[in-house]
Amino acid sequence: MSGSEERSTARVPTGVSGLDEMLGGGFPQGHVVLVAGLPGTGKTCLALGFLMAGIARGESGLFLSLEEEVPALLASARGFGWPADAAVEKKQLTVLRLDPKETKGNLHRIQSDLPKEIAGLGVRRIAVDSVSLLNMLSDDEPGRRATLFSLAAACRGSGATTLLTAEADPLHPGVSRDGLTEYVSDGVILLGYNQGSDGHKVGLSLRVLKMRRTAHLRSVQPYVIGPKGIEVDARAVDFGL
Ligand SMILES: Nc1ncnc2c1ncn2[C@@H]1O[C@H](COP(=O)(O)OP(=O)(O)O)[C@@H](O)[C@H]1O
Ligand SMILES: [Mg+2]
Repeated sequence: MSGSEERSTARVPTGVSGLDEMLGGGFPQGHVVLVAGLPGTGKTCLALGFLMAGIARGESGLFLSLEEEVPALLASARGFGWPADAAVEKKQLTVLRLDPKETKGNLHRIQSDLPKEIAGLGVRRIAVDSVSLLNMLSDDEPGRRATLFSLAAACRGSGATTLLTAEADPLHPGVSRDGLTEYVSDGVILLGYNQGSDGHKVGLSLRVLKMRRTAHLRSVQPYVIGPKGIEVDARAVDFGL
């Protein structure tokens, strides 16, 4: 990639300054970025923080929640000091809850109505939490692929920048459980636990596996889930996990 191409890519700050530093300013605008990790690694927190960072800059956001109920999400945001309740009231933030139990209705909605709904909202940022549950709506591989591809196309087509979360495969935590989402994504960020020498989990670390149309740090950087959300230490020396 030429330097001029890289410079011309508009950036969308992620809400995590250390991650922005790793990416040269943020996600390239319009990207669909997968954030994969085991439970408790902060995927929902990162997704919420990404939307709230947009709202702070006047960019409206859509949170598609397949896992958590709306009140629980708003309570999490409150816990990090993010004014999500006010953003919902002012229609800067839309939270859509898709209950994975309502399989048929949801599949129809995702494949036919959602692109129109997303376009109608005119949002600049979208978070989908999580595509792993989305994949459970279909009981075969072609169905899963069709649902995921149509959702990704709807997000991309809206011109928004999108963050998709996915459960990592517990046996191979370097890839998403479905192994599919990587292919519809322009970027992949992996959140993981560090193993101490005694095999116990100690601390958390992040790495950017891929990010189209930009150079990025490839090393593994430590992060914490602090009182204001995720904080990545982009300056720590790679500890090679
Ligand atoms: N207000 C908070 N302050 C600090 N840490 C928090 C706070 N809320 C949640 N956490 C941490 O975040 C973790 C869950 O993050 P979450 O985004 O739900 O992970 P995931 O979606 O990957 O399962 C909790 O286990 C806890 O360690
Ligand atoms: Mg979660």
